[in-house]
Amino acid sequence: MNSNTPAFTTEEPLAALARLRELLGPAAVLIGADVPARNCNDWSTQPPQTPIAVVRPVDAAGVSAAFKACRAAGLSVVPQGGLTGLCGGARPEPGWVALSLERMVGVEEIDGASSTMTVWAGTPLEAVQRAASEAGFYFALDLGARGSCAIGGNLSTNAGGNRVIRYGMARELVLGLEVVLPDGTIVTSLNKMIKNNAGYDLKHLFIGSEGTLGVITRIVLRLHPQPQCTLSALCALPDYAAVVRLLGAARSGLGPLLSAFEVMWPDYWDVVTKRVGVRAPVADGYGFYVLVEAQGTDDTVDGPRFQRWLENLLDEGALADAALAQSVADTQSFWALRDACAEFFPTLGPHISYDVGLAVKSMNAYAVACKAALAAAIPGCESVYYGHVGDGNLHLVAWVDGLSVAQQPKEAMDEVIYGLVREFNGTVSAEHGIGTVKKKWLGHARSPEEIALMKTIKRALDPQGLLNPGKVV
Ligand code: LAC
Ligand code: ZN
Repeated sequence: MNSNTPAFTTEEPLAALARLRELLGPAAVLIGADVPARNCNDWSTQPPQTPIAVVRPVDAAGVSAAFKACRAAGLSVVPQGGLTGLCGGARPEPGWVALSLERMVGVEEIDGASSTMTVWAGTPLEAVQRAASEAGFYFALDLGARGSCAIGGNLSTNAGGNRVIRYGMARELVLGLEVVLPDGTIVTSLNKMIKNNAGYDLKHLFIGSEGTLGVITRIVLRLHPQPQCTLSALCALPDYAAVVRLLGAARSGLGPLLSAFEVMWPDYWDVVTKRVGVRAPVADGYGFYVLVEAQGTDDTVDGPRFQRWLENLLDEGALADAALAQSVADTQSFWALRDACAEFFPTLGPHISYDVGLAVKSMNAYAVACKAALAAAIPGCESVYYGHVGDGNLHLVAWVDGLSVAQQPKEAMDEVIYGLVREFNGTVSAEHGIGTVKKKWLGHARSPEEIALMKTIKRALDPQGLLNPGKVV
């Protein structure tokens, strides 16, 4: 079967799905009571919604057939990967069909000379990382949901994570794509070249568009050399000006080795060390805490160099205190402080998470203003701040004690948080995307002209509005 599969004629949804089932096999189309619970939601903490069917093709031709069948029956389709998205991009609406990439997994090729890896879009991120490492390479995208998220979903949301400062976001780790358009056309562009200026770079239409313009089925990923050593330090600083100076010193002193610059505000630090109970390598009471990491090529050279860099900063008084990791266990314990936000549900209780973006110089002014405005506007509202400061990405977690997720005053929080984002010329999403959860606020970060152009592109690729309609724009 190929993309020239005859188009289905207009028919009833169930008849179209039954026909698709005949074409792709019974394991590829689960209908009604056979729909698994996992396909009813993502991690966006909205109520689950059962799709009328889950279609699980094994290749692009199967995706194409599914699109044609759904189009003939007027069915909307939501693409699904690992379902770890936080903004509702993979959550079905009533009457929709879920198109899951869960059977499109595996590595097709590793090309050592080109430093590329061709994978199926449903492959879990952790499996991609492992395969790269087994072949002596490094796949640089990394984030907390690595065991569950799928690489196709990472691309469709242009995922960020902890090493963006060195390797860029997901977008920068992709050289080629195979994509199925809403009308069923298969566009195969499995480019392996870093330089290719032959016309529009179409892959960037699909990366970061949250499954609204097409479905990614295969990917050529960019691999990097395996780092030979990881150096890290946990630094305490008096104020935000010192944090910005440390970022400059890390960029100039560590150069291309700098691989993470994670900042924790003191409110976050207190929650993590006192409420979550993570062990701290430096005392509390400082203005800011920064985890600095460098990935080197030779421990005998890079280890002493990193230590000298840190000691010089301490001697100059640029740091209030610092702990240098002496072992892998130390490095892991430093990261445990930063990763503790993943454990906030059991410790803090229900809360709402945000991923705003701001110019680096404005991040603390924003955090101070936001904390005060939330407390003033919403009785009992607490908030804590942390983030990938080198990338201009501030995370904040806000909650009112004693309320369930559904009871949290999210609308009022959104008003304050995104209102200030607009005042500070920031963005309502630095890395998690828009989906449905932030759609109302897109205009706080994009101009009417930008939004009109997004809608023009959506209409051009999906004139019937059947692929993930109502998401993003
Ligand atoms: C993080 C995710 C939530 O940075 O983006 O922890
Ligand atoms: Zn993040």
